[in-house]
Amino acid sequence: MKIERYHWFYYFGGIALILSILQFVTGVFLTLFYQPHLLEAYSSVQYLYKEFGVVGAWFRDAHRWIAFFIGSAIVMHIIRSLLRKEFMNYNNRTIWLTGSLLLIPMMALFITGFILPWEWKGYWFMEMVPNHLGTIPYFGPQIKQFLIDAFTMNRNFVAHVVIFPVVMIILLDYHIFAKLRARKGGIPKYFLKHSLITIPFFIIIAVLALYIPMPTEDPEIIPMPLEGVNIPMAEWFYLIFLLPFMYFEEAVAAFFVLYLPLVLFLSLTVLPYLFKNYNFKPEKHESEDGFVFKGATHLFKNILKVAFMRKGVSFFVVLIVAASLFGLVSVGVHESPTLGCNSCHNISMGTGIGVPPKHFKDRTKEPKNDNSEWMVEHWIYPTTTW
Ligand code: HEC
Repeated sequence: MKIERYHWFYYFGGIALILSILQFVTGVFLTLFYQPHLLEAYSSVQYLYKEFGVVGAWFRDAHRWIAFFIGSAIVMHIIRSLLRKEFMNYNNRTIWLTGSLLLIPMMALFITGFILPWEWKGYWFMEMVPNHLGTIPYFGPQIKQFLIDAFTMNRNFVAHVVIFPVVMIILLDYHIFAKLRARKGGIPKYFLKHSLITIPFFIIIAVLALYIPMPTEDPEIIPMPLEGVNIPMAEWFYLIFLLPFMYFEEAVAAFFVLYLPLVLFLSLTVLPYLFKNYNFKPEKHESEDGFVFKGATHLFKNILKVAFMRKGVSFFVVLIVAASLFGLVSVGVHESPTLGCNSCHNISMGTGIGVPPKHFKDRTKEPKNDNSEWMVEHWIYPTTTW
């Protein structure tokens, strides 16, 4: 007899995957209404709120909240995979490698997504990404200029809805789908099982999307300038990388915003290759995902004797690592009033402060955009830094 057990702890990868599908569905809905032009983008987003009321707004806000939960689930998934030392299994190096590489399209989807609505938040991100990559040694300034010159909303849109999703699907195929196809029951069974465990997330997302929407009804309704303080949002995942601009001189900031993340990313990616000659023995009672126990006797032995203790300990280790990581991020950016930009930058204020200026690419006319320290400080303390 084969007994299958679920443990929520093993499911962060699965949750991220299912949420990605939900993200795809809500994204397709949004694509049907979105206008990828500078002058029409924001009003097309507003149209959803005006014409479709709660439903349209819900789709847009759910898309934002799902992004946040995918990001969080991925962080948990990485912590779990590291602590389970999966990188030591050289045979699974493709899974590890593609998992690590998936971080790139994921981040790119976050950023291109923030830019799409083209309110001031979108404008801010569009200006900060070139500044960020401008810190690359030697080629930085060229890359920065190239990104500014090459930016059009249509290109950003195509990147968000075609290029990066396709890259993601190809990587996901190697990362997980190939493995699932080989498994009994295949992909449908996997989704069926994982859907159950994702239901609490669906509910949380549905409620958050209803009760914490992105203020989009300006000029009729405008938010308070500090709205969004202490509310974790998808933006945090990128803001945290930019934060050092506010605290350090340019050269030191470059170390924290670019070199350090890059070194960490590369080390993470090559881990299995460092353990190439290590003879990895998978833990006995667990299958790859740890949820298939063979035989009832094993199950009882596991739960009663070893597993209970070990799982308890690993639970706390994961909890502590995750809490310190998320804690660090929120210490850094919890003051970010992500929902408040429209308070001052709403369309009733006219071009230049209400609508992103026409000459936004010309930094001789918009010198502030070149000043990363000012930009980050204005995001986090908009009422004191102008
Ligand atoms: C308290 C009002 C207020 C809030 C809230 C606010 N801003 Fe601003 N912002 C300003 C003012 C005023 C300026 C113009 C400063 C200047 O040009 O001297 C400005 C300038 C900017 C600029 C500089 C580029 C330009 O074209 O002038 C960017 C980018 C920007 N804001 C983004 C944001 C973002 C993103 C948020 C939300 C996180 C935000 N702002 C929230 C008042 C605000």
